[in-house]
Amino acid sequence: MFKSVVTRALTVLYVGALLVACQVEKKKRINFPPTDLAKENLIPKPLKVVPTNKAFGLDRYTAIYTTQDTQGFSEVGQFLADKIKTKLDLDVPVNAESDVPIERIIYINKADSLELDSHEAYQLYITQDSILLNSSTAEGAFRGIQTLRQLIPEESNDTLAEQRIWPIPSGKIFDNPNFGFRGSMLDVARHFFSVEDVKKYIDLLSYYKINVLHLHLSDDQGWRIEIKSWPKLTEIGGSTEVGGEAGGFFTQEDYKEIVAYAAKHYMTIIPEIDMPGHTNAASVSYPFLNGNGKTPKLYEGTRVGFSTFDTAKDTVYAFIDDVVREISAITPGPYFHIGGDESHVTKKKDFIYFVEKVEKIVQKHGKRMIGWDEIASANIDSTSISQYWSSGDNAQKALKKGMKVILSPAKKTYLDMQYDTLSKHGLHWAAYIPVDSAYVWTPEEYEGIPMESILGVEAPLWSETISNIDELEYLAFPRVIGYSELSWSIKENRDWENFKVRLANQAPYLDRMDVKYYASPRIDWKKSKYTYKEIQKD
Ligand code: ACM
Repeated sequence: MFKSVVTRALTVLYVGALLVACQVEKKKRINFPPTDLAKENLIPKPLKVVPTNKAFGLDRYTAIYTTQDTQGFSEVGQFLADKIKTKLDLDVPVNAESDVPIERIIYINKADSLELDSHEAYQLYITQDSILLNSSTAEGAFRGIQTLRQLIPEESNDTLAEQRIWPIPSGKIFDNPNFGFRGSMLDVARHFFSVEDVKKYIDLLSYYKINVLHLHLSDDQGWRIEIKSWPKLTEIGGSTEVGGEAGGFFTQEDYKEIVAYAAKHYMTIIPEIDMPGHTNAASVSYPFLNGNGKTPKLYEGTRVGFSTFDTAKDTVYAFIDDVVREISAITPGPYFHIGGDESHVTKKKDFIYFVEKVEKIVQKHGKRMIGWDEIASANIDSTSISQYWSSGDNAQKALKKGMKVILSPAKKTYLDMQYDTLSKHGLHWAAYIPVDSAYVWTPEEYEGIPMESILGVEAPLWSETISNIDELEYLAFPRVIGYSELSWSIKENRDWENFKVRLANQAPYLDRMDVKYYASPRIDWKKSKYTYKEIQKD
């Protein structure tokens, strides 16, 4: 009896295997139309692409396997599987048994080869049977996964086989970023943005391999991060915003949630507490901080340059020590941004004294100081970093000190600049920045700053004129996609005419993600099947 049950089970298995084998035979005969990996709409453009004109068929017989003895690789595999699920409604197992026979695999592999010595480098080998993603780190694998996501078509081909199948062009990709620091900044001080808004921005930026998000957490109009030792900063200083709405702030738990979400996307969060100017909200909360001789009141306008800390008081530095300590303790990244811009009512000598003292505080808490370009007039360390936004002279001072520079020239990279005179949101004090002007410049050669002194490129989004995620997206997209390419891809691989076609083809992704991008008439946007109502969150 027992034996016959076993025999029957084996027979069933055998017949099942035969059936599967027949299906395999059928699948092997899939005739994909020719492909050209080099013509795919990848942004940022990879370093080198070698097409082989066949295709890998992503379908329900595909599985993902990863290196499992190094932390992070299986998570990257799961990240890819989750994105495939939301994009295609296709389940792809990760390092797991499958209910169906597996025909093709995506293998995410830790590989220590000489060409992969940079931690974000990766190689993709796509054949008919397998996709091999090599990287020496999980971070590099994560960047490679973004390329793979962009290669998966939005639509399946339902004529090639019985099952739905998504052809991925075959070939090889060798990739490595030009700049290790590729950033955007979000001003949550002038108008507050929620944790969910910030997470969505992280989703979108990381799809284009941007790896730094700088959060401008304090300004005249609002203080947006809980400091446990100084609770009035958020109780009072976080209570309003430009235009007089209720404002808001991140609790430290909220901030940790953002940091953890960013880390999952291999993105570094840089916290900024802007000082000694741009400090009205702090001084309203604790008037002893104030150094401009006036009684501070909550401010809901958009003027700049009227506030300053009192740079002579020890208590002010004790306060700053607490703030830097509490924020640094929940910030795993190496940087702390002290602002330092537009301190128009701080005497020059006081400003210099202040920046030098605050640099020591930042270093004491284990961080590397970043400040807007004005900080270079102080006698600061070569390890501190100057963020160039307006003054070439200040950039030169930073270079003389041996400091590295982050390129954020307002007239090229400020995402709050209007596209043109018809723009619904934004300002134009630095320039109008249409989509092509944002892209057509050369960071590697900007104002004679040598390449080895450039840490990277960052596109700041100030929020005086935007108060919700739709408005944020209108200013950031599509321009920030261009900055991703300006900072990842080498100059020889950048070309506006070519970029603008690839950009046009981002529309289905942006629409699926419900991004209210500015549909610039300079781009011949691809039509997509998604409407804002049918969105799946990616
Ligand atoms: C700045 O735009 N004030 C850095």
